[in-house]
Amino acid sequence: MDSTELMIPNHIAIILDGNGRWAKKRGMPRNYGHTQGSKAVEQICEDAYKIGVKYLTVYAFSTENWKRPKEEVEAIMKLLRSYLKTSIKTSEKNNMKVRVIGDKSKLSQDIQDSIMKLEESSKKNTGLNLQVAINYGGRDELVRAIKSISLQVKDHTIDLNDIDETFLEDYIDTRGIPDPDLLIRTSGETRLSNFMLWQMAYTEFYFTDVLWPDFNKVELMKAIEYYNSRTRKYGSVL
Ligand code: FPP
Repeated sequence: MDSTELMIPNHIAIILDGNGRWAKKRGMPRNYGHTQGSKAVEQICEDAYKIGVKYLTVYAFSTENWKRPKEEVEAIMKLLRSYLKTSIKTSEKNNMKVRVIGDKSKLSQDIQDSIMKLEESSKKNTGLNLQVAINYGGRDELVRAIKSISLQVKDHTIDLNDIDETFLEDYIDTRGIPDPDLLIRTSGETRLSNFMLWQMAYTEFYFTDVLWPDFNKVELMKAIEYYNSRTRKYGSVL
């Protein structure tokens, strides 16, 4: 199929997986894989936007990732720190609006400050909407939403009958962001790993053996072709 005929998903979510294995294959430390993975994120943001993707969400650090060895967690935090700082410039250059999803309150104060700065400085940008999931878990997100709603019921600010699906959407981290049309998970794993449980109710899933640092525009187009083959076959996939 001619790529100009392809229907481009509005929102793509990605589980970046395989950094460690990519590094091991090269006899390098896992953290080298994360560094290369971070470069692949930057490149895919540009590629995705150029082909017409409006929203991109990447799973950078899950609530479960704290269980990794201390040195690896520290190295990933260092990488995220530097990513958040350089993103202030790159988001300006690429007209990209960045939002971090997840429980930010558990991150170190300087990371929280960088997130605030980046979100604030990029909020008026009209290009790609990039969501970076840091200390994110789908179950944790729902628990936080439920707690916040419960407090208001308790205070009689809202009535139990006010709560429906649309109401809840205002309490989750992705408020205002359309649900993903396509999920991509790299490295051959086929689990959802607690990613966007609420938002992915109708999302199309694409799995590839490619390790995240090797994921590029060619691989992205393969995922989009797969998405097109599914939507052509089943129409609006609900
Ligand atoms: C996935 O590979 C790696 C992670 C989930 C860790 C953090 C991701 C990055 C550092 C990418 C950078 C992201 C941004 C937004 C800058 P893995 O360690 O699970 O690999 P493995 O399954 O081969 O061990």
